Amino acid sequence: MPRELLYNAFLHLTPNHHSHGYWRTEEGQVQYGYTKLEPYVEVVKTLERGRFDALFIADVSGVYDLEFGDGTASIRAGSQFPEPDPVTIVSALGLVTEHLGIAVTSNIIQSHPFAFARQLSSLDHFTNGRVAWNIVTSYLRNGFQNFGHDDIVAHDDRYEWAQEYVDVAYKLWEKSWEDGAVVHDPATNRFFDPDKIHRIDHEGPRYRVAGPHIVEPSPQRTPVLFQAGNSPAGREFAIRNAEVTFLPSTTPEAARRDIAILDDLARAQGRDPKSLKKIVQLSTVIGSTEEEAKRKQRHLHDHIDFDALQAFYSGNSGIDFFGIDPNTTLTELRDRASVGDHVRSGLRAAADADHGNGAPVTWGDYLLRHALLPGRFAGTPDQIADEVQRWADAGVDGFNVVPVTTLGWWDEWVDQVVPVLQERGLAQREYHPGTLRDKLFRNGDAIHSGHPAHAVRIGADRAARA
Ligand SMILES: Cc1cc2nc3c(=O)[nH]c(=O)nc-3n(C[C@H](O)[C@H](O)[C@H](O)COP(=O)(O)O)c2cc1C
Repeated sequence: MPRELLYNAFLHLTPNHHSHGYWRTEEGQVQYGYTKLEPYVEVVKTLERGRFDALFIADVSGVYDLEFGDGTASIRAGSQFPEPDPVTIVSALGLVTEHLGIAVTSNIIQSHPFAFARQLSSLDHFTNGRVAWNIVTSYLRNGFQNFGHDDIVAHDDRYEWAQEYVDVAYKLWEKSWEDGAVVHDPATNRFFDPDKIHRIDHEGPRYRVAGPHIVEPSPQRTPVLFQAGNSPAGREFAIRNAEVTFLPSTTPEAARRDIAILDDLARAQGRDPKSLKKIVQLSTVIGSTEEEAKRKQRHLHDHIDFDALQAFYSGNSGIDFFGIDPNTTLTELRDRASVGDHVRSGLRAAADADHGNGAPVTWGDYLLRHALLPGRFAGTPDQIADEVQRWADAGVDGFNVVPVTTLGWWDEWVDQVVPVLQERGLAQREYHPGTLRDKLFRNGDAIHSGHPAHAVRIGADRAARA
């Protein structure tokens, strides 16, 4: 029996997540409903029917082509613009589901860690322990400018900032309230035991937070932690903080290499590599025959809005796409100093993936390849299951399933692909009870004992002193 894989549904509360331009087709017009709650309610009910582990909601806090352009391409195309706040939808989706995890992206620039830790504790209560946080440092210059910065903060400095941000959150979630602080005891006139609730008195380069945390401990205390950095600083951050990390790998062979690097790093830092799940994006077009799948894929590609795509990749990579000769090789681009301040791992992964087949991949090739993101693999449910098996054999622990349209598409996956995956033992048939963390790791509700969040617990201090 193969080991169980993790499946997240990749969503974004925006007109066009990765299918830039597809909204102009009849099927794509379902995206007009992106500001309504009801379509998302339908999505999560479908996901739970298909035994998805979690909904994963991406988020950015700026406009893509304000990086270099005037904003018109992504604004005109509704390309990851506008962006309703994903935190606001979690309670509603939690109420209409019972098991589905809800992972919400929030970057370190957009809210103070005290306010954010309070929001996530509240949501973890309201969902009975099903919340996860995708920790991101943000890559959009316009996003930084929206929060009072003149410019984007340098790449590795963002990770330092993120470390202090999560340290504050860990202290609020794990250290401020001891176990047993909630007493509900009319006889002694104590709803809570003040002796067990503490200030955190955090003082760091960016934050001063007194505490105590003003929400009582939620079922998981610290939500499940997702993260996606794969630069050296990003990997260090993942090893230290993440429970689930995204690999940028575009082939199973590349994933095998990326996993080996992460596992070696984990071991070198005394972390059990198995406590960090490594997942990749899986983007499919489904057909009842291969021919039908390819036809649907062509239809999707025929509607790509290349202007919007260029704006997306300029903002995402920090490279002024419009000024680059499409014949420039990826290796050359990857090594350019200007790339260092932005997203590095996508370029590195693409450059590395090319090793082995000889021909240098150019920037033009890269864009075209990425244009295919919403439909990189077109096939029948059986062929998709074969593809899932190839990734599993390379050692990945699961997938962010990338839909063609974020709304309306999921029935296809759940009705056609999930039964085949279940039949082959590649997807769960029933949910394990309990919190999201216990569902994923089968090791209780609390963050694992080697994690820095666990180390700040009052009880952990005592155990260490004993
Ligand atoms: C699957 C996946 C989802 C991501 N979601 C977001 C997101 O919602 N918001 C965001 O600002 N960055 C997102 N990122 C970008 C990462 O947070 C990070 O900036 C990127 O992986 C580059 O990190 P690196 O420079 O350490 O390699 C995502 C990355 C991946 C691979």
